[in-house]
Amino acid sequence: MCGIVGYIGKRDAYPVLIKGLHRLEYRGYDSAGVALISEDKELHVYKTKGKVANLEQMVSQHDVSGTVGIAHTRWATHGEPNDVNAHPHYSQSESLALIHNGIIENYMLLKQVLLDNGYTFRSCTDTEVLVQFIEYVKKTNKVDLRHAVQIALREVIGAYAIAVVERGNPDQIIAARKSSPLVVGIGKDEFFLASDATPIIEYTDQVVYIKDEEIAVIRRDEPLRIINLHDIEKTPEIHTLEMSLSQLEKGGYPHFMLKEINEQPQTIVDCIRGRINVEGTDVILSGVLDNRERFLNAQRIIIVACGTSWHAALIGEHLIEDLCRIPVEVEYASEFRYRNPVIRPDDIVIAISQSGETADTLAAVELAREHGAFIYGICNVIGSSIARATDTGSYIHVGPEIGVASTKAFTGQVTVLSMLALTIAKYRQTIAPEYYRELIGELSSVPEKMRRVLEQDAQIRDLSKIFTYAHNFIYLGRGYNYPAALEGALKLKEISYIHAEGYPAAEMKHGPIALIDTEMPVVAIATTDSIYEKTISNIQEIKARKGRVIAIVTEGDTIVRNLADYCIEVPRMVENFAPLVSAIPLQLLAYYIAVNKGANVDQPRNLAKSVTVE
Ligand code: AGP
Ligand code: GLU
Repeated sequence: MCGIVGYIGKRDAYPVLIKGLHRLEYRGYDSAGVALISEDKELHVYKTKGKVANLEQMVSQHDVSGTVGIAHTRWATHGEPNDVNAHPHYSQSESLALIHNGIIENYMLLKQVLLDNGYTFRSCTDTEVLVQFIEYVKKTNKVDLRHAVQIALREVIGAYAIAVVERGNPDQIIAARKSSPLVVGIGKDEFFLASDATPIIEYTDQVVYIKDEEIAVIRRDEPLRIINLHDIEKTPEIHTLEMSLSQLEKGGYPHFMLKEINEQPQTIVDCIRGRINVEGTDVILSGVLDNRERFLNAQRIIIVACGTSWHAALIGEHLIEDLCRIPVEVEYASEFRYRNPVIRPDDIVIAISQSGETADTLAAVELAREHGAFIYGICNVIGSSIARATDTGSYIHVGPEIGVASTKAFTGQVTVLSMLALTIAKYRQTIAPEYYRELIGELSSVPEKMRRVLEQDAQIRDLSKIFTYAHNFIYLGRGYNYPAALEGALKLKEISYIHAEGYPAAEMKHGPIALIDTEMPVVAIATTDSIYEKTISNIQEIKARKGRVIAIVTEGDTIVRNLADYCIEVPRMVENFAPLVSAIPLQLLAYYIAVNKGANVDQPRNLAKSVTVE
């Protein structure tokens, strides 16, 4: 993953770069580094293991002047997270410094060529091979940096967003991308460069999204030039950003994750705005409206996603099969792309991704395209790679999600899937008009119901204290709430490092029930739905084996309350949309357990927000 930032202009580059790195730290925090060109045209690299704050501490003794520079925050793929493997990497002569997000797959081959030519290596990274290779190409072909990058990248297999600066040339940054994101911000007499727009927004709202195999030639006091690997000059397409700075700050919350959990009543309003009419009688999802025939004739829908987005996809499967009567398959994007799947031209492939940059999901989209399927994207980040690679789609419009653990994006994805299913069902006439309107009413009630769940924050915080030191957890749910159980378990795992498993409640008796004893907390989602009685039996089975049950129940429930050790109430919700409310107490429970343990909630170990590597 990694975050990259660059600046060239009239300001001091260092403060801009550091601030940008802080914004991008969600993408990785194994190490951080910066390369600056000082007034005497010398190239200085400072880098260190750990977070951006460590880098700041380290450079406090050094001269960080200069109006051009590049910086990096790393999520290691090749070589352990240490000082030497941190970016920027120097070339052999130390005349070039490069930062990279991605993986150079053929780095071994390139490294061998360089070793044969007397080059030596300090780090274990694929990135160092690339910068050395660029220098090698530059010397052997006697070309300038731009041409060297262009020639070198033609030989590269893999994914990259890179930026390179050169000793003696304080007027230029060369950047390029393939499969990893890269945005250039255009200010007045200055340029910014970053993995996403968050480091840029406070300086300018004018941006250019660099496309695959394009090189950005960013020169002081000259217009931005975009040239592709085959030397074709492109006209930069300038977009205006819609994001605001306040959306990126914590707004008084101790963590972004808590802020994002609490934002959900508002983000769902933002998500349905303009899509459900004011009378609350109709849903209009323009991506479906504009491609009505495709959806009318679809024989099958395949949903590809990873992680939390995959859990949302499972809920989408229930919704679409239930309401639209179209067969749906849900695939891990990472598996789908490597298993020669059957994809037909009349299939619709839906790709779900908060970041819109997940490499596996993007590759699955590309595979679907090769097979001629129609591709619908459900993304959060506007202008992201997946959003641009799909035929059409719907943004979830929940605003920037900074906490690594996804919360508001999950409920936004489920909301868009709900509106998608309703729209298709209406066109295919697989839903009775009264039921269609009833469900629209239910969906419109979600923000208010979420608000009521959030009011139980203090109660959930108290409950969390009882379980802070548990070693394992089981999460159970059935039907629509089974994916919600999976998501609850994932939240706990990723931020509190407690082992947790999500199971369909009825599967317990086929094996996992052997794990139940007095030490095993079981979170059972037992809201009133068509299989409520069955879920009660499953809870009985756990209690008979002395498991400790925390139940999520519908307001006013007395039966489960008598059985469970602890209860959290959620408002009554039609079962199709049940996860939109049952997910919230699970997010809060995971959050408070992690806080009790003193874990770094927003930046859990080993993870990164946007997984742009395979
Ligand atoms: C969620 O909490 C995760 N950190 C992770 O599973 C995430 O959902 C996954 O990496 C997919 O990301 P995307 O939605 O940006 O594609
Ligand atoms: N492959 C590079 C490294 O390990 C970049 C990693 C990334 O972008 O995640 O340093």
